[in-house]
Amino acid sequence: MRLDKYIAESSSDTRKVIRNYIKEGNVTVNDRLILDPAAEINENCDTIKCLGKVMKHPGKMYYMFHKPGGCITATKDESSLTVLDYFNVSNGSGLFPVGRLDKDTEGLLLVTNDGEFCHRLMDPSKKVEKTYYFWAFGSLDQKKKEQLQEGVMIGVNEELAKAESIIVDEEGKYLDLKNKMNFESVKGIKINPNYQPVTSGYITITEGRKHQVKRMLKSVGCYIVYLKRISIGSLVLDETLKKGEYRELTTEELKSLY
Ligand code: URA
Repeated sequence: MRLDKYIAESSSDTRKVIRNYIKEGNVTVNDRLILDPAAEINENCDTIKCLGKVMKHPGKMYYMFHKPGGCITATKDESSLTVLDYFNVSNGSGLFPVGRLDKDTEGLLLVTNDGEFCHRLMDPSKKVEKTYYFWAFGSLDQKKKEQLQEGVMIGVNEELAKAESIIVDEEGKYLDLKNKMNFESVKGIKINPNYQPVTSGYITITEGRKHQVKRMLKSVGCYIVYLKRISIGSLVLDETLKKGEYRELTTEELKSLY
């Protein structure tokens, strides 16, 4: 690992401050002065001191985050709140979100500093199931559910996108179900929405293409207005976490993802 990265992940200072510490001769590796922030160190056996203090790396970190709508799946942004704005860590912590949820999507997001863990979960060949709860304008009859499971076209030159499973939870008219829909305004719908059919349900997919669930449902005439990820593999969102809260994964939860 790079020397500046190791120190950033072990302290509350920014990478920029740390680079200056290194260049100004405040950092030693095994008691040897090192002036190059990009120097490679062995995090398992080297002793790194910054300003005379031994830097202890926190090791691998794995968190479950209940992503609220309005938060973007990034580590920094000029105009919107990002996932890391909800975390009580320094900006050099090395934490990053695993995969991506749209800005308006809520629910389970993993946050880690372990790149290998992230790659494994994101690798489409590993077929890790992700389940989403949705509300949509439109109806989902048996034929549409079969189409979704057989594979639908969601973009030019894209492979068919398939649902592993699709379960309808509630269906009816907007007028009768709007109080349950978790959805505040009907934008862009020109006709009176009250008598339009709405459907809620659960869809499971194993890939993570951009806006995949929204595009899949759109291909069968359903327009998602609320989307929440509730599980990844066998890991289910801990509903005691309020939106915007996070907690460490337990050892069992972590094992279940491997
Ligand atoms: N599919 C979507 O359309 N959006 C998400 O945020 C996740 C999956």
